[in-house]
Amino acid sequence: MEYQTTITYFFKGGRMKIRLFMLLFNFFLLGSVFAQNYIVIGWNDLGMHCSNKDFSTMAILPPYNNLRAQVLRVGDANNNPAVMTSGFRVSYEIPGNTYSVGKTNFWDYEDQLFGVNLEPNVGLEGNGLSGDMTISENYFYVNGVPLTPYTDSDLQNEDALQLALLTVFDGSGQALTSTQPVAPVSNEINCVSSGCHSSEQQILNEHENEGGFNPNDTPILCADCHSDNALGMSGQAGVPSFSEVMHDKHKDKTNDCYKCHPGPNTQCLRGVMKTQHNFVCQDCHGSVANVAQTIKNGREPWFEEPSCGASDCHGSNYAEESGKLFRESKGHGGLYCSACHGEPHAILPSGSDRDNVQNIALQGYAGTLDKCESCHGTTPNGPGPHGFIPSDIEAVSTQIPDKSTLLQNYPNPFNPSTTIEFHITQAGKAHLDVYNQLGQKVFTVLSEFLQPGIYHANFNAEFLPSGVYFYRLTVNRFSETRKMFVIR
Ligand code: HEC
Ligand code: HEC
Ligand code: HEC
Ligand code: HEC
Ligand code: HEC
Repeated sequence: MEYQTTITYFFKGGRMKIRLFMLLFNFFLLGSVFAQNYIVIGWNDLGMHCSNKDFSTMAILPPYNNLRAQVLRVGDANNNPAVMTSGFRVSYEIPGNTYSVGKTNFWDYEDQLFGVNLEPNVGLEGNGLSGDMTISENYFYVNGVPLTPYTDSDLQNEDALQLALLTVFDGSGQALTSTQPVAPVSNEINCVSSGCHSSEQQILNEHENEGGFNPNDTPILCADCHSDNALGMSGQAGVPSFSEVMHDKHKDKTNDCYKCHPGPNTQCLRGVMKTQHNFVCQDCHGSVANVAQTIKNGREPWFEEPSCGASDCHGSNYAEESGKLFRESKGHGGLYCSACHGEPHAILPSGSDRDNVQNIALQGYAGTLDKCESCHGTTPNGPGPHGFIPSDIEAVSTQIPDKSTLLQNYPNPFNPSTTIEFHITQAGKAHLDVYNQLGQKVFTVLSEFLQPGIYHANFNAEFLPSGVYFYRLTVNRFSETRKMFVIR
């Protein structure tokens, strides 16, 4: 037992001083490490990148993965955390996946399809499976990593959720910290394997009947004529976009998105919206017909997608930046939404363990990066993301109460902390928010899924000026508001 040995040493007079010296020396070392503690948070821009495996007949999407990262200097009692913008190098790699030639025949056809001549294992943006990320504003990125879903050790079975490794180096080349976000990629574009089409050639033959092109002149890149924002290709004038024709043509045949999107094996929708809230694709995107119809009505495919902040979803306090997608938006502290919440379709906590690896490493548990200390090094004195103040929520009883109710806080008036008791009869996402006299939300005490029971929320309002405030509890359809007084 390690500590017993230490204790015996302590009592062996002579050695004690050496031990104490060593201890102090260690504290000194640790202290200096803490003084410049860095973390890196990484993610993929999409929840899933699809790619064809075989490019000999037709190409929908090439191997093309995008990684993002933000580097933070952890704060302390006197300093806020800071997102670093210079002086660092961030490398990327996918351990266990070091080559792509042979795992796909993309490099046999890239000149015919995209008019470029690439070195083996180099993707359309000139990047390979490992290298350095580029800095832009306050984040690092690499685009077009030509990743396949086959690891070096298994060329048969898809591994759609491989972990990338991002490592941060300082100016002198010293490795400071690293992280392991998922780099999702799938070959499950199921035209044939779904049982719908007998072969890819047959798809081309059918297309010719529509008066499209010569199917013998392969491979065919669909985006040559059908505009495709995923590839940044504008297509041929007058020809409808690829998303529009695909969803329109198939709308009467299927409403199962996994017939084409990856897929029965990959399960690209794997985040909390599915696992905890039972959402399916149609809940956010509508039916296959709707995906096509909205484009006919003017929606720009890939650039106009559902949003968390829609008024019938999470509302304006949880919205993306105006006019931007989730993947492009930043929130608290200049951090991307994905830095705290994960990738679109894999919103944390995810049903897939690999997606949770990063936040478990950063804060000790899966889910939203909501532990202030992970970035601040300490508990900040003020509201955090979306006005959230982490409070102590205590389940006093798990018996189902007679009715849902919100009790008067005590003490009241108070300075600086108080306790609010509430009873809930139905499991649900509970929100406890505090508003000022103008009806503006000043912070969130609680935003958590709770089981029925009796709870105490203990919170500290140190940063609030004296005055009258209202606190409101909402769980499912229950809502109640009460008044409280802060006195300084
Ligand atoms: C040489 C140009 C060209 C290429 C390449 C091309 N298409 Fe088309 N496609 C067209 C045109 C033109 C139409 C007719 C558009 C219209 O109805 O206005 C069309 C129509 C379609 C339709 C709708 C058919 C229908 O019955 O209404 C689908 C689906 C489609 N294309 C899929 C594809 C796929 C998949 C690929 C790649 C394998 C592809 N296209 C490649 C030109 C092209
Ligand atoms: C018949 C195959 C097929 C089915 C079924 C299908 N999709 Fe797609 N979808 C595609 C293809 C192919 C693309 C890629 C188009 C591109 O590269 O621009 C796509 C792209 C998309 C996009 C991005 C482009 C855009 O319009 O914004 C969304 C969103 C989408 N699909 C949603 C859905 C949903 C939701 C379902 C099920 C309700 C579904 N799709 C069913 C083939 C399909
Ligand atoms: C909880 C709502 C939600 C559900 C459920 C959902 N999506 Fe999405 N989807 C979004 C949002 C939000 C975006 C835009 C994300 C971004 O790019 O910032 C999006 C974007 C997309 C895109 C465009 C590429 C991308 O990632 O931006 C495709 C394709 C897509 N979804 C397909 C699907 C399919 C297929 C399913 C079901 C397997 C599905 N979605 C389920 C919300 C949802
Ligand atoms: C610094 C971390 C951080 C960033 C950045 C961040 N959030 Fe959050 N988000 C949180 C925390 C913490 C919560 C509340 C606790 C929880 O629900 O787990 C939350 C909750 C949410 C919720 C759930 C609200 C509810 O009704 O339960 C949504 C939706 C959301 N955020 C969207 C966004 C969007 C969109 C962005 C980007 C504009 C964003 N968040 C940026 C940390 C963050
Ligand atoms: C993922 C990292 C991260 C997490 C988690 C995080 N913060 Fe922050 N926070 C930041 C950054 C970065 C800043 C910006 C510092 C700056 O601009 O100087 C910041 C700034 C702040 C500020 C100062 C705002 C201002 O305008 O001066 C407060 C207060 C704060 N955070 C509270 C919180 C609370 C409370 C939590 C936990 C619920 C939290 N933060 C979680 C990264 C984080």
